Amino acid sequence: MHPDVKEIMFSESEIKNKIKELGERISNDYKECESITVVGILKGAVIFMSDLVRSISVPVFFDFMAVSSYSSSTESSGVVRILKDLDKNVESKHVLIVEDIVDTGLTLNYLINNLRNRNVVSLKVCTLLDKPSRRKVDVRIDYNGFEIPDEFVVGYGLDFNECYRNLPYIAVLKPEVYRK
Ligand code: IMP
Ligand code: MG
Repeated sequence: MHPDVKEIMFSESEIKNKIKELGERISNDYKECESITVVGILKGAVIFMSDLVRSISVPVFFDFMAVSSYSSSTESSGVVRILKDLDKNVESKHVLIVEDIVDTGLTLNYLINNLRNRNVVSLKVCTLLDKPSRRKVDVRIDYNGFEIPDEFVVGYGLDFNECYRNLPYIAVLKPEVYRK
């Protein structure tokens, strides 16, 4: 275990099992579709997306968006700026947004409204983690890996100051690390 980690919330094998389950549900729900355009939200969703797509049996296209919310360090403001937009037009596509975590919901709410205006056939959301107690705006999540309490977590793509994304599990850091 990494020396900065206080506690592992979800192990590699728990994540693996959950992704298999999500992939089966998604494959079943989209089985009549020609393809799914999976839109990963950079950078946090990269690791989750790369494992998730390998458990989906329907043909998948990849695209990515990067957004930044105008905020103080920890509080999301809801005003979102697109740093990187999609490469391809998603008109007439089945779009599945893949997120690492939904916290206040402000980022996702913005993305849903933004993508909905692009004449997609369908738009759904898959997130690995959900912190419902922090929600500021109601967003519909179609596929959710784990519901978690109001704790800041890292690993498996999620960062604290850009660190710890490569940890293979989801963890809570020691309090002294967050204070640095
Ligand atoms: P929201 O707009 O408040 O829902 O913010 C979602 C974004 O905040 C996520 O995509 C993450 O980048 C970040 N975030 C929220 N909670 C955590 C956490 O516990 N660990 C790491 N990043 C988080
Ligand atoms: Mg982040």
